[in-house]
Amino acid sequence: MSLQESGYLLSFDQGTTSSRAIIFSPAGEIIATGQYEFTQYFPEPGWVEHDPQEIWSTTLQAAKDALGKAGLQASQIMAAGITNQRETTLVWDRASGEPIYNAIVWQDRRTASYCQSLKSENDALEARVTAKTGLLLDPYFSATKLRWILDNVEGARERAQNGELAFGTVDTFLLWKLTNGQVHATDATNASRTLLFNIHQQCWDDELLALFDIPAALLPEVKDSSADYGRINPDLLGAEILVGGIAGDQQAALIGQACFRPGMAKSTYGTGCFMVMNTGEQALESRHRLLTTVAYRINGTPVYAIEGSIFMAGATIQWIRDGLNLIRNASETQSLAEATGYENPVYMVPAFTGLGAPYWDPQARGAIMGLTRDTGIKEIVTAGLQAVCYQTRDLIEAMRADGIEPDSLRVDGGMVANSWVVQFLADILGIPIACPKVTETTALGAAFLAGLQCGLYNSLEQIETLWSHDRAYQPALDADHQERLYQGWLDAVARVRCGD
Ligand code: G3P
Repeated sequence: MSLQESGYLLSFDQGTTSSRAIIFSPAGEIIATGQYEFTQYFPEPGWVEHDPQEIWSTTLQAAKDALGKAGLQASQIMAAGITNQRETTLVWDRASGEPIYNAIVWQDRRTASYCQSLKSENDALEARVTAKTGLLLDPYFSATKLRWILDNVEGARERAQNGELAFGTVDTFLLWKLTNGQVHATDATNASRTLLFNIHQQCWDDELLALFDIPAALLPEVKDSSADYGRINPDLLGAEILVGGIAGDQQAALIGQACFRPGMAKSTYGTGCFMVMNTGEQALESRHRLLTTVAYRINGTPVYAIEGSIFMAGATIQWIRDGLNLIRNASETQSLAEATGYENPVYMVPAFTGLGAPYWDPQARGAIMGLTRDTGIKEIVTAGLQAVCYQTRDLIEAMRADGIEPDSLRVDGGMVANSWVVQFLADILGIPIACPKVTETTALGAAFLAGLQCGLYNSLEQIETLWSHDRAYQPALDADHQERLYQGWLDAVARVRCGD
């Protein structure tokens, strides 16, 4: 059977602000998309929640819409993949399928003081946790959110111990719903973001379960990223569909960008920015506060990655638009930046919710520096764009210091529509950058995993041939100029830091 003669792939892409479903052709082209935004709940400062039922209903409706727009029947779908906002934590009743609390979102900081108290009690604890999980003792990850639910929802801990409740990240919850409660599973990439999973031994870790006081009865089975995850209940979309792939969204983007060889890296510029670099079958431990994570696990073999997470990328431009009202549309930023040029004396540090990698400084706050009487809108907007690029340089510097510099970078996400940003990025990083033809890399990665499982593709090498670039950018700035601009950024960051 040639690729053209086979069926289609359906990808569920459940993100932080919207639920999407995309149907791909066997060659990885987009056929149709369904998409719904959903409500963000901020019950207290620093808290972020989603309604699990809304996550589910928007996901299902997006898939129905995509099938409708494509004019396809569910029976023409060969397999489905799931990709998701990672770390976001859900607990539900195994008998009824009812969540016992809202989903606590990855951005939620409610467990910050608990994480701090663990670190203060025992200096060596974070290093021990990092050695097993590749992560840090930070509220970003699932374990402390799960513990919070067990401690704060009446009767939850006892019911968890009795095996009445199930825990899952969003992939697991959607899989449970899609299979009508038949399958309670996750994949190794999502498990690797919980702080409960030993990424070297590829299993839930008893010592970590004891540390965070999590009953093992809550946990899903951990499978390969490309695996048989069961069948979608035919009542939902009109036919049974194999769920053949699952990966957390940043890992799925790495796969959708075909970064299958060590040294290949991708950076996604959405709300935040996540740079992930494939390091092969070796899990490298960063000495500069980057995360070690599972990139994907296929045929039982984990491939690892180093990841840097920046909390504010596109969200900075959103703030310039909605908070400051300096622009009406993000597309205006390109001409403003062109008019400003690289020599911008203004630096913006968008530490609205602290700084992520490599600083991990939750107390730092944002600032705009270098203002003079002739500073106008265009300099401030440009500083916002440049901040995203300088933060990416921070990640590259941390990787360089760890001795694992990527040779090139593949980028995606809303902000890369701005070609000034991508050229400045190439110039400030000093490495070539490519934008892919299919920009929906996250959904595509999950579709590729499902396609591998159902036999549509026979290898990652075959998948690699489906990737091609649309635009390529070469660095053109001399080293002195690059360093002078970047030094201005480092000086600005130093002024907002609160941590060590
Ligand atoms: O780790 C959080 C990340 O997975 C969220 O991604 O694209 O939903 O903002 P996104």
